[in-house]
Amino acid sequence: MRILVTGGAGYIGSHTVRMLEKEDHRVIVYDNLIKGHHESVKNSCFVEGDLFDTKLLKETMEQYKIEAVVHFAAYSLVGESMENPQLYYHNNVNGTLNLLNVMQECGINKLVFSSTAAVYGEPELIPIDESARKEPTNVYGRTKLIMENAMADYAKAYGLKYIALRYFNACGADEHGDIGEDHTPESHLIPLVLQTCLGKRDAIKIFGDDYPTEDGTCIRDYIHVNDLAKAHILSLKALFKGAESAVYNLGNGNGFSVKEIIETAEKVTGITIKKEITPRRAGDPAILIASSEKIKKELGWQPEYTDVEKVIASAWKWHQNHPNGFVEG
Ligand code: UFG
Repeated sequence: MRILVTGGAGYIGSHTVRMLEKEDHRVIVYDNLIKGHHESVKNSCFVEGDLFDTKLLKETMEQYKIEAVVHFAAYSLVGESMENPQLYYHNNVNGTLNLLNVMQECGINKLVFSSTAAVYGEPELIPIDESARKEPTNVYGRTKLIMENAMADYAKAYGLKYIALRYFNACGADEHGDIGEDHTPESHLIPLVLQTCLGKRDAIKIFGDDYPTEDGTCIRDYIHVNDLAKAHILSLKALFKGAESAVYNLGNGNGFSVKEIIETAEKVTGITIKKEITPRRAGDPAILIASSEKIKKELGWQPEYTDVEKVIASAWKWHQNHPNGFVEG
């Protein structure tokens, strides 16, 4: 397969690129490096480019005879999306529309799209399956839902074939320990906990311990980045075999509370972590757990990292090897 990976120098993108290359597919990474790190794909074919650079995007697709696109390039911080919706609508909606239009011009009709559990908002039922009510509680989730709807329209009108993957809480790192999560600013629980273990932060803040859960802290479904990567490859293969467009959840189906994650990190690292209970963070639902039965049944996907200790150990290896993330000149 000849695949263009937009946002391929990002966290989930770089893991997917590595897995695609291991299977000997031809991969072209297209990334503007605003959030991504060139270092994470240093051995890959790389084009530094923006989704809005229509000319370069088109030239890249033509030059490399691209057959399908995996589209990661997007902003993904919930808090930031509420403070600066313009940025999110512009990049995630306009940017993706531009990509769809260029794909259409180049005659490419296969797309795997990064979506999110944030499209559901506050769930009515746990586990959440794909047919659940979709009422995002933040701008980030809304921009992804808008694009899912746009792709459905493009599919009907222009024959686009797409698979949208709704990730729950992406985490962990490749076992080599040389690529991993490096966001600026970092807002995700596991990297913050591990940075606290490294002494880079004084304490981990627990955002609320008065939720209606057993220990009072929020429960999330943590899914390893390589299990996500595997789902992208299965999706591509399905599209190449003529599969119809589809939307799938990606989670482990198990929930862990914030306190359980911190306790597991203490066990994995052997370090006692200083904790501080603070008020709730706005917009955090109490429990988010996925049902991923649909992708298991239809594409044969199975998560390998069902043990949260193994997930945190993989992230810990990355953080120990790279306490300052990807340091680039
Ligand atoms: N948390 C803390 N302290 C912190 C950071 C997080 O207690 O310092 C808590 C949060 O309140 C939440 C849990 O840890 O209960 C996980 O928080 P993250 O920020 O790691 O992840 P979210 O669940 O908020 O969001 C993630 C992605 C979103 C995606 C969502 C879907 O960042 O893009 O999962 O489930 F939409």
